Amino acid sequence: MTETDNPLIAGLGGDLIPQPCTVVIFGGAGDLTRRKLLPALYNLALDGVLPAQFAVVAYALDSLDDGAFREFARKGIEKYSRRPLEQEDWAPFAERLYYQQGSFDDDDAIAALKARLHGIEAELGLNGNRMFYFAVPPTFITTCARAISESGLVADPELGTPWTRVVIEKPIGRDLQSARAINDDLQAHLAESQIYRIDHYLGKETVQNILVMRFGNAIFEPLWNAKHIDHVQITVSEAEGVGTRAGYYETAGALRDMVQNHILQLLSLVAMEPPWSMDPDVIRDARLDVLRALRPITPENIDANVVRAQYASGFYQGTDVPGYRRENGVAADSTVETYVALRVFLDNWRWAGVPFYIRTGKALPKRASEIAVHFKSVPHVLFNTDEQHPLEPNVLALRIQPDEGLSLRIASKLPGPRVRIYPVKMDFRYGNTFGDQAPEAYERLLLDVMAGDATLFMRRDAVEASWAWIQPILDAWQSKKARWLPEYPAGTWGPIESERMITDHDRDWRVL
Ligand code: BG6
Repeated sequence: MTETDNPLIAGLGGDLIPQPCTVVIFGGAGDLTRRKLLPALYNLALDGVLPAQFAVVAYALDSLDDGAFREFARKGIEKYSRRPLEQEDWAPFAERLYYQQGSFDDDDAIAALKARLHGIEAELGLNGNRMFYFAVPPTFITTCARAISESGLVADPELGTPWTRVVIEKPIGRDLQSARAINDDLQAHLAESQIYRIDHYLGKETVQNILVMRFGNAIFEPLWNAKHIDHVQITVSEAEGVGTRAGYYETAGALRDMVQNHILQLLSLVAMEPPWSMDPDVIRDARLDVLRALRPITPENIDANVVRAQYASGFYQGTDVPGYRRENGVAADSTVETYVALRVFLDNWRWAGVPFYIRTGKALPKRASEIAVHFKSVPHVLFNTDEQHPLEPNVLALRIQPDEGLSLRIASKLPGPRVRIYPVKMDFRYGNTFGDQAPEAYERLLLDVMAGDATLFMRRDAVEASWAWIQPILDAWQSKKARWLPEYPAGTWGPIESERMITDHDRDWRVL
């Protein structure tokens, strides 16, 4: 198979081919590298889609050498790779892994990194294309950007090759002002075209399928508007509590952690206008338009449209779960929300008056993410005349995870002499059709950076547009100075307030 035939590298934006490069991971001895980046790169190697000339150079404070780093990588891959590590594939991959010790703000160490990169690249015949991956805590992002730019490690963006691309992890700030400050700092050192802000939800197979489903089929798009759709529900529920991440989560909460980024991106894909081409910026413009059409949340409408809550002690699969305030590292009087539900509107022609209900939380009954499009009811004639038992409207549910797939609920006649109507489901399951081994989000995203396709990455304007919309909610919460939040027992579907938010409008959350 040639590179262009390989379906795994046929990019969403065209047939982009990963180019030879060095992946330089700042924070290369950390958790993200071990759990996600190295396993993703290894799986790309297994698929044969990595460029022939390729190297990984990890840069971090830990005192490791190449051998110890390869061992670190092997363990990470053995534990977290979706496919098992096989010695014959591992050996050629491991040879491409290097380690350089140093801190992010030490000029001499960065100069030594630069010299090492030159050496490795000369040896492997690499042309100086570099992907810098900042797998570092948010406070170090700008330090790293400054370090690479001041040491001359950033190529001129006007030159096609060699290129420099820099991958940044979330969170980009914790409010509009800090996000702008980070973006300003980044832009002092890098061109926007060199910055790849990752939102790993955009790399999920099922999320990418939203566009294919909408624009690769004739039957959905004509119905995809306020005339036919009653409302949309977006649920991202997690069974786990805060786990070991209290230090970060206490500064974030569900709104910042999940809604500002992942969920608003899901909303953008579901609600965007058809892009006029597959060009990354055309698609990103269309997503941005959705964020700009979000109806502002104001002090007057916040109570009707936003519910926050925190998990109290409860049970999950037969075991006791402590309440959030009793978790390790959480303040005993914390008012950080672990659950948020919202009713949002898009003030544009397509979606006028259609509510989008969003809910996300930790310590809910199960891990399940889906987007459910609820169509309008059929008229109250013929089969739908019984007001006590109205027909259930059609629902198209896009299951993002787990059990990826989509289902359509339709009314059907029960077999027999009388006309009795029953809702049935047409169900498509990825696993059944394509097998269980969909690539991980990071695989796709790393490949896209190597290919220079920014479609699935966040542009500065989108990050700031979503913070701009979130900001009034943060401000309102701040000014309320609540001493406690509504609670829900761990292992349940959120607080009663979120039920009311939807049932007050004669709708119900879907049972997942
Ligand atoms: C991360 C959040 O961005 O996404 C986590 O910081 C959350 O709190 C995670 O658990 C969910 O990702 P996924 O891919 O497991 O749904």
